[in-house]
Amino acid sequence: MGLSCGNPTAIASLKPGDVVLDLGAGGGFDCFIAGSKVGATGRVIGVDMTPEMISKARRNMATYTEQTGLANVEFRLGEIEHLPLADASVDVVISNCVLNLSPDKPAAWREIARVLKPGGRVAVSDLALLRPLPEALRTDLEALVGCVAGAVSVSEMRSLAESVGLGSIELRPKPEYVDALTDWNDPLYQRIMQALPAGTRPSTFVVSLDVTARKD
Ligand SMILES: C[S@@+](CC[C@H](N)C(=O)[O-])C[C@H]1O[C@@H](n2cnc3c(N)ncnc32)[C@H](O)[C@@H]1O
Repeated sequence: MGLSCGNPTAIASLKPGDVVLDLGAGGGFDCFIAGSKVGATGRVIGVDMTPEMISKARRNMATYTEQTGLANVEFRLGEIEHLPLADASVDVVISNCVLNLSPDKPAAWREIARVLKPGGRVAVSDLALLRPLPEALRTDLEALVGCVAGAVSVSEMRSLAESVGLGSIELRPKPEYVDALTDWNDPLYQRIMQALPAGTRPSTFVVSLDVTARKD
């Protein structure tokens, strides 16, 4: 279904009727949770740039509709730096472990601010850096795919949200999350661990971060 850094739908305070956008929806897991929360009067749009993930998410939709009776989720092929959505059309932007992958994070944040309605909210889970990565990891393709090498620092995350005019920004680090990924013997994290200096773990460098903000 996907690879996640947290649970954005748990921090998004979704309510019936909300229009929700999921950036980098993957197999659609968070879209389906959001869809159940916003109900028949709400709508969820999942955007992903990978055609295979869009196809997978659309296939998963059949099970979602069968189980909930809802047809309120759709998936669109697109990049989060160029969202296929109108200005001021979304109540809540969620995203799970995707912003770190963006090669142009300021553009992705500008797009978030553009598509949000006034009063709209952001609820993002992502990985963020606690300290600079060792060179070997910073340039490691697997560490990029594993959502580590592309991550920005916790303070840069705040600056990105501030730079597009969002307010009420709250950042909540969850240190236990990355340790859990490593301890579960996730193969990607095991390989990342081998590239680290002796005596360090992925959680020495990265943390799972919940980010909430509001467009005033
Ligand atoms: C780590 S997965 C997370 C998927 C999902 N959010 C989850 O929690 O399971 C990253 C997803 O983001 C998509 N993605 C990465 N960069 C993107 C971009 N710039 N624009 C749109 N989608 C992107 C990938 O295709 C992939 O499906």
